[in-house]
Amino acid sequence: MDVSKLWGGRFTKPTDQLVEAYTASIPFDKELYEEDIRGSLAHVAMLAKCGIIPAQDAEKIREGLHAVLARIRRGEAEFTIADEDIHMNIERQLIEEIGPVGGKLHTGRSRNDQVATDMHLYLRKWIVRFVGLLADLQEALIGQAKANLDTIVPGYTHLQRAQPILLAHHLMAYVSMFRRDIERLQDSYKRVNTLPLGAGALAGTTFPIDREFVARQLGFERIYDNSLDAVSDRDFVVEFLAAAAIIMMHLSRLCEELVLWSSTEFGFIELDDAFCTGSSIMPQKKNPDVAELVRGKTGRVYGHLMGLLTVLKSLPLAYNKDMQEDKEGLFDTIRTLDGALRLMAPMIATMKVNRERMRQAVRQDFSNATDIADYLVNKGLPFRQAHEIIGKLVLHCIQQGVFLPDLPLETYKTFSALFEEDIYEVLKPERVVNARNVYGGTASGQVAGAIGRAEAELAAVREWAANRAERDKF
Ligand code: ARG
Repeated sequence: MDVSKLWGGRFTKPTDQLVEAYTASIPFDKELYEEDIRGSLAHVAMLAKCGIIPAQDAEKIREGLHAVLARIRRGEAEFTIADEDIHMNIERQLIEEIGPVGGKLHTGRSRNDQVATDMHLYLRKWIVRFVGLLADLQEALIGQAKANLDTIVPGYTHLQRAQPILLAHHLMAYVSMFRRDIERLQDSYKRVNTLPLGAGALAGTTFPIDREFVARQLGFERIYDNSLDAVSDRDFVVEFLAAAAIIMMHLSRLCEELVLWSSTEFGFIELDDAFCTGSSIMPQKKNPDVAELVRGKTGRVYGHLMGLLTVLKSLPLAYNKDMQEDKEGLFDTIRTLDGALRLMAPMIATMKVNRERMRQAVRQDFSNATDIADYLVNKGLPFRQAHEIIGKLVLHCIQQGVFLPDLPLETYKTFSALFEEDIYEVLKPERVVNARNVYGGTASGQVAGAIGRAEAELAAVREWAANRAERDKF
């Protein structure tokens, strides 16, 4: 009989080795050791404070947990699948450290509320880090936007030249996208920062515990108000995975533009050598591998979101072993997002903008066509008629192989008598850009305003993150 299991009392046979290997989570949930020990320290402090265990026992357990923590941090702890998961590995090591009194730690607690608490603490820490990393990326984008407040690029729809815009305006669109990502993470923080501990296995506990005390110790702002929900809720993980999937989607869109823009065909930007790689056969190659990989790794993050939603679908209350499957996808998502965000900020900050190439691009296209239509409208023509006239004018240019500023005024007049000499002023890209002087538009004053607002928000976000990072210090 296998007496060595922490739950071995009821069993008459040792666990089949295949079962042991199949059910163990220690190979991956060792990632949670800090959170597990931190949660245990708060729990044991509460047990003593409520008179559930003697103060001197609690003190021994506290010292023992610190010894175990130090050993793990030094890389000297041995984890074993015989002890299944991080919770029982740590409890075993505690008992080895201080003797049977270590067995008092698990009073009034279950692994079900324990693992949920670990996951909340863990994700709370990472959400704050990701808010900071998103702010770093925003800062890099804002830096490039400020340096390019007078750089005009073609704006596209359908990937066809549409209207000229400021490069700064284009970059600030991403700042707005990442602002929504930050808001999503900040919103989910409320639910992540809710304490499940005290729910026991599913129904609560017979011991006179003080959940509020534990919540305060661990910096939780709220506690779960239903014990079944506390142990079976993984919404907060799903929410994070959804937010991560959207962040990756945003990064992937940005990366796609970096890949396109750094191609010879566009030639709008050049990524720094430190953020590119070469080819083993073609000596001339400089490939935007990082941008491509971020784009590619978006797939696995989407997969983890779908994976967990599917694990949770139809799960009866309360805890089920299926829920152990919440971890690997989450940890991989965190690694993937962390790796991508850490690289994106310096890659954006160091990219070179080929202003001359962009200038040429906007002078050799018809992206000012809308503005001449608007010109005729300002002279009283209905927009639909103006649209028709300019369409014919553009067709004429294409047939002649010229652009709108190249046409003499006489030609303009054959299309509409309303054209005057001032049409040439209207065609200038600077004029086209600055004419879009509405809130949220590309006129330089509007973009400067957007940059100012984004910088103020950035400062507020940094403060939000710094305040919350305090809670995670351990
Ligand atoms: N390793 C488990 C998990 O990650 C911990 C909770 C186990 N609880 C249980 N009753 N088997 O979900």
